Amino acid sequence: MSVPIVGQKIIHLESVESTNPYLLNEFKNGRVSSGTVLHADIQTKGRGQRMKEWHSEPFANLMLSIAADLNLWKIQNIISLNHIVAVSIQEFLKGYVNDVKVKWPNDIMVNDKKMVGILIENQLSSSQRRSVIGIGVNINQQEFNAPRATSLSLETGKFFKIQELIFELIAVLNKNLNDFQQKGEAYYFQLFNENLWKLNETHPFIIDDKTIEGQIVSSDLEGQLQVSLNGEIVDISNGQVKY
Ligand code: BTN
Repeated sequence: MSVPIVGQKIIHLESVESTNPYLLNEFKNGRVSSGTVLHADIQTKGRGQRMKEWHSEPFANLMLSIAADLNLWKIQNIISLNHIVAVSIQEFLKGYVNDVKVKWPNDIMVNDKKMVGILIENQLSSSQRRSVIGIGVNINQQEFNAPRATSLSLETGKFFKIQELIFELIAVLNKNLNDFQQKGEAYYFQLFNENLWKLNETHPFIIDDKTIEGQIVSSDLEGQLQVSLNGEIVDISNGQVKY
């Protein structure tokens, strides 16, 4: 039996600007504890990676944040949180669809289209390490402005009860957070790498506005992506490449 770490307290708000800063503020001020989940039906200022916006139709999708106390984690192991979260979301989605892959650094692709965005925002100081793990999963939305986006409903032809999916996702996260205690960082790092979207396939990478074909070799523990370009392995940082 695994001990629940996530979701002992679940807060629901109909509407919020963004679940991430809202929860971080509650966490910082001691009003919620580590593991608390905040989910919302509407985000009026949803946040994406690299200061982008995250758009979601009201009431259509799963949008939640999880408070995480990282004081017990060694700084160099915090990257494991990315691995555990991505692998868990992948495992959860595999209950419904095939061909689920992790697009480095933090997206989940289904049938080569983006279904999930993850935004982990850390607040690290010498005395406190807090994190909020923001997860957006497109569930029932039928239309997208972005060409490479999809939803669980579009891929399965079914409609889903978001509340039930939230409980399922929390259960998978708790299982993996517990397993992490025994299996350790290397296990989740390997799972993350084995499941990378476009791993070992020739694919175009846009770097500094130039398109170049290459193959993903692995991600590394500094959070970079190793890509083979013209036979040379190059380390690429988040934000440096589009692919
Ligand atoms: C991305 O792919 O750019 C990351 C998107 C993250 C979206 C989720 S939805 C819940 C949480 N609150 C936010 O404002 N963003 C994250």
